[in-house]
Amino acid sequence: ALSAEDRALVRALWKKLGSNVGVYATEALERTFLAFPATKTYFSHLDLSPGSAQVRAHGQKVADALSLAVERLDDLPRALSALSHLHACQLRVDPASFPLLGHCLLVTLARHYPGDFSPALQASLDKFLSHVISALASEYR
Ligand code: HEM
Repeated sequence: ALSAEDRALVRALWKKLGSNVGVYATEALERTFLAFPATKTYFSHLDLSPGSAQVRAHGQKVADALSLAVERLDDLPRALSALSHLHACQLRVDPASFPLLGHCLLVTLARHYPGDFSPALQASLDKFLSHVISALASEYR
């Protein structure tokens, strides 16, 4: 489980991100599509070219889900259950691809907040993202 310190670090970083969560989620998506091109197969109906407005719009949705997760750290599986259901039953996304986006989010945040990105913050963010990922994978059965 996330310790009090993990929660405090994640909440403080999120506060700092402010209204830019969508910008970073979009960069994380772009990195995921480049570094792990198989992930693009789920988005063949979208324009994935650099700077695409559709990717930006999708990045904002991912960002809002992550911000909701930060607000509901004590209740992640319930907070994300509808989203898990959507990925499992409608979108049929392989849950093994969730950590790829998680990894790209970490890389993106490390790049934009190098001064904040202590080993302790990396560890807490990684724990937070693994909780998000397992909540998203929970409806796959
Ligand atoms: C849609 C969140 C990972 C594929 C969505 C939506 C959200 C979301 C909020 C919009 C749902 C709606 O419109 O109601 C997340 C989060 C992830 C994640 C928080 C992990 C941390 C992934 C991954 C893939 C994926 C790794 C595939 C490689 C999709 C697809 C859609 C979608 C195909 C529908 C896009 C569209 O047609 O608009 N996701 N997602 N997701 N997600 Fe995810």
